[in-house]
Amino acid sequence: MVPEFVLTFILGTVFVNGKLYEIPNNFSLGVAISSYQSEGAWNVNGKGENIWDHLTHTRRNYSYDGSNGDIACDSYHKWKEDVQQLKYLGVDHYRFSISWSRILPSGFSNVINPDGIRYYNDLINELLKNGIKPLVTIFHWDLPQPLQDLGGLANLKVTQYVEDYSRILFQHFGDRVKWWITFNEPLSYCLYGYNGVVAPAILSSGVGSYLCGKTLLLSHGKIFRLYEREFRKEQEGKVGITVNIAWFMPKTNSEKDKEAVARANDFLFGWWMHPIFSKEGNYPKRMSDRIEYVSKAENFSESRLPPFTKEEIKLIRGSYDFFGFNYYLAQVIQDDLVTPYNPPSFDQDVGVVATTIPGVEETEHNWFPIYPQGMGDVLRYIHKLYKGVPIIITENGYPDSGQLSDPRRINYIQRHLIEVLKAKEEGVNVFGYTYWSFMDDYEWLYGYLQKFGLFNVDFNDPNRTRTPKASAEFFRLLTKYRVVPSDTIDC
Ligand SMILES: *[C@@H]1O[C@H](CO)[C@@H](O)[C@H](O)[C@H]1NC(C)=O
Ligand SMILES: *[C@@H]1O[C@H](CO)[C@@H](O)[C@H](O)[C@H]1NC(C)=O
Ligand SMILES: *[C@@H]1O[C@H](CO)[C@@H](O)[C@H](O)[C@H]1NC(C)=O
Ligand SMILES: *[C@@H]1O[C@H](CO)[C@@H](O)[C@H](O)[C@H]1NC(C)=O
Repeated sequence: MVPEFVLTFILGTVFVNGKLYEIPNNFSLGVAISSYQSEGAWNVNGKGENIWDHLTHTRRNYSYDGSNGDIACDSYHKWKEDVQQLKYLGVDHYRFSISWSRILPSGFSNVINPDGIRYYNDLINELLKNGIKPLVTIFHWDLPQPLQDLGGLANLKVTQYVEDYSRILFQHFGDRVKWWITFNEPLSYCLYGYNGVVAPAILSSGVGSYLCGKTLLLSHGKIFRLYEREFRKEQEGKVGITVNIAWFMPKTNSEKDKEAVARANDFLFGWWMHPIFSKEGNYPKRMSDRIEYVSKAENFSESRLPPFTKEEIKLIRGSYDFFGFNYYLAQVIQDDLVTPYNPPSFDQDVGVVATTIPGVEETEHNWFPIYPQGMGDVLRYIHKLYKGVPIIITENGYPDSGQLSDPRRINYIQRHLIEVLKAKEEGVNVFGYTYWSFMDDYEWLYGYLQKFGLFNVDFNDPNRTRTPKASAEFFRLLTKYRVVPSDTIDC
């Protein structure tokens, strides 16, 4: 059932004064979610413990609502129904992640859990049967706990275990999965995972964060080379990474603030993009110079940023078929370089202060500014930096309380998608848009307090009943008519 205001909106703009942005047929529309946030069944049928199971079980109050992902949306049991909802939305692709601990309970590749293989085979087959292309994230933050016990991504040996795990995924699913994302949001994992905000919740900002980053970049390179070496010829798929990027603008026109924006871009995004997508490879020079200088001033015996060898730079450089990009945030950046002091921290290294853009509208929970232009600006920025790189938006979404009437979410999708299509018209090679999230889910620190879904999930109902929100109906219209009306809805 299409709510009346949606119909009025579509028909009104089509027939009255609407400029319609066409969504080309080969532009892929999809929705996303991740394993820990949706699957549940945390200890069912042989699944091992991961760092999110561990964190939420050992620190009961970790999430603001004291919740965890033990059951979440119960997609482990409801995958068939999930695919029916995806079909209802009419999406071209579905982005989900594979739970490493469900496939390899101990994290190592010596023992494979047959039920894990069965689960993802069922899901992938059901998607394909319904004409939906799987876009699969190999690692979306849920590292097996036994590997964390060995130091997690601060331990370089983990690059080997990631490669072993990925080989098993390619062997079992690569005949049908043609789009792979190695890592989701490396910045969030290595920055917030090492300043206590998300799992593994280690307090080692400015040290552990960079060790994590090196392992992650090397692991990404290894997965890509593994695919090239052993699978590409036969499977003909594509492998990329998903980076979360914000749009930053200087607080003033001063050289200091402009340099602060360049520094923030290099530290937060160039950290990942430059080694993989630039011609030279390696960390951005602005970043490595700065960390070396600050480390020295803090009396460390060497830079806290672990260097890459020439061979490692080569392994990582060019290890992509596409660029995945999550967009949520735009901020004002101000220079804040201070004399180095102990203890070290990532924030001190970056040396900027980020604030909200004056006057900008925010989401219901004051979580994110709503700044659609930033989406187009980042797309043009990536296009210019890494000319011609094929880009897919792998996340973009709006949080609220989960109510079924969600006109602001509709408006958010519409305005962001228009910016994407405008950038595409200007020649940016962007080939898809993925809304986060498919349904309400476990949102890490925010537990079940922040709802991004197109579908409402009743978390008090053991059946975890899903109900389409107005935005789901809107998304159906997008996939059906393949146009985005320019007019905003008056709510
Ligand atoms: C999509 O279709 C357009 C128009 O036919 C074409 O120019 C473009 O190369 C296609 N893009 C992809 C990614 O296939
Ligand atoms: C968790 O939060 C509850 C409610 O706020 C509180 O009563 C309890 O003491 C907290 N437990 C821990 C371990 O902090
Ligand atoms: C580094 O050591 C020098 C010499 O002991 C000392 O003066 C300086 O304060 C130290 N730097 C920091 C950031 O602690
Ligand atoms: C659970 O949900 C499914 C799908 O919506 C429905 O078919 C089924 O009847 C529900 N079961 C119960 C016990 O509510």
